[in-house]
Amino acid sequence: MSKNVLDQKMATIVSLCRRRAFIFQSSEIYGGLNGCWDYGPLGVELKRNIKALWWKDMVMNRTDVEGVDCSILMNPRVWEASGHVQSFTDPMVDCMQCRGRFRADHIQNKQCPTCGTKDKFTEVRHFNLMFKTFVGAMEDSTSQVFLRPETCQGIFANFDNIVNTCRVKVPFGIAQIGKAFRNEINPRNFTFRSREFEQMEMEFFCKPDPAEADKWFQYWKQERYGWYIKYGIKKERLHLREHEKNELAHYAAGCADIEYDFPFGCAELEGIANRTDYDLKRHSEFSKKDLSYFDQAANQRYFPYVIEPSAGADRATLAFIVDAYEEEKLEEETRTVMRFHPAVAPVKAAIFPLVNKDGMPEIAVKIQQELKKHWNVFLDDKGAVGRRYRRQDEIGTPFCITVDGETVQAQTVTVRDRDSMKQDRVAIDQLQTYLSKKLNT
Ligand code: GAP
Repeated sequence: MSKNVLDQKMATIVSLCRRRAFIFQSSEIYGGLNGCWDYGPLGVELKRNIKALWWKDMVMNRTDVEGVDCSILMNPRVWEASGHVQSFTDPMVDCMQCRGRFRADHIQNKQCPTCGTKDKFTEVRHFNLMFKTFVGAMEDSTSQVFLRPETCQGIFANFDNIVNTCRVKVPFGIAQIGKAFRNEINPRNFTFRSREFEQMEMEFFCKPDPAEADKWFQYWKQERYGWYIKYGIKKERLHLREHEKNELAHYAAGCADIEYDFPFGCAELEGIANRTDYDLKRHSEFSKKDLSYFDQAANQRYFPYVIEPSAGADRATLAFIVDAYEEEKLEEETRTVMRFHPAVAPVKAAIFPLVNKDGMPEIAVKIQQELKKHWNVFLDDKGAVGRRYRRQDEIGTPFCITVDGETVQAQTVTVRDRDSMKQDRVAIDQLQTYLSKKLNT
């Protein structure tokens, strides 16, 4: 596809997200704030589903992973130990012609991406991406703290707490979902590069034996790649890319990215890294607390190695939206349909009374109340049924239930499948079982 077509596709998706209450610009009425986004009623359901599926598969369905929820503000020494104070920087330049500010490594052919002027940039300066704030009433260097730029450091700082309270044994993991903040120089591509975003991170601690660590590294790469496919991301658009040696962070023994073909290019959804024993050793050194682990079975004390699958909840949400989006040519029209996996779809079923009389609205409300106990469902009684179908297709609702003339006589409804557009007639008292089977819940 040409760049123009891809740009147009992205613009259409962004516009749909706004029009159908998936994602809005933050504080839009004041002109917005670059790099910050708000999720509307459909977006929040979608993102919550994605986070819940991650939690279910990474924590609840496993016996070797514990969950935590750590604070965003932490003792600033954490970020000295992690290396962020010293080196969490991006190289930045300004265009002297239009005063645009860019990441130096994003400049191509020495040309300003905004005004096109060649070779008129300031010297490269290094800019720390951590947001700063103050705790307490005094605003000086002693009260300065940072908004966490990644969630994993809360996990490392709690390693000893979990070992001492949860009877975990190496190999085991600690997982967390939460907000992270980075003062990105150029937030862009919709929610892809934001200044405030959510991460879904898991630190998996294993024996510090390179072969054992590599076994888990391979394992988590496959697990995480398979997770996106399991929930419907198209395999041909998802890539597992091994880092070149020169791309590796100084502490990493290996790293791979899971990348997705967005309309704006192939870009990272998640990184899986072998972080060795770097973090626990650094936190031991800086906190003066021994964070080594005593392995009873081996009668050995050591610093475990860490394999980290680190995903972005907002990037995953954007990938699920882009991947689900389709324009399908029908005989007389083009329908926009979001082919979300049923587990991901923000609304699971919509209920339509065919006409607003003859007892149909009352039955529709009853069905809505019953199904709402189990799923997010929506009742739509406005406009022609065909248009109601289209409205639900556009937000990816897998099933549409119509209450019609026959319902009143026979206590049955039609259930229309979003993808095949085929209809089944189902008894009202069997609806929940029918949907449970189809939604696999
Ligand atoms: N603890 C390791 C870590 O934070 P990272 O590659 O910097 O690694 C992990 O971030 C994931 O967090 C990324 O793969 C991406 O999904 C998400 N992420 C990072 N920066 C982001 C940003 N500015 N906007 C949205 N998501 C971001």
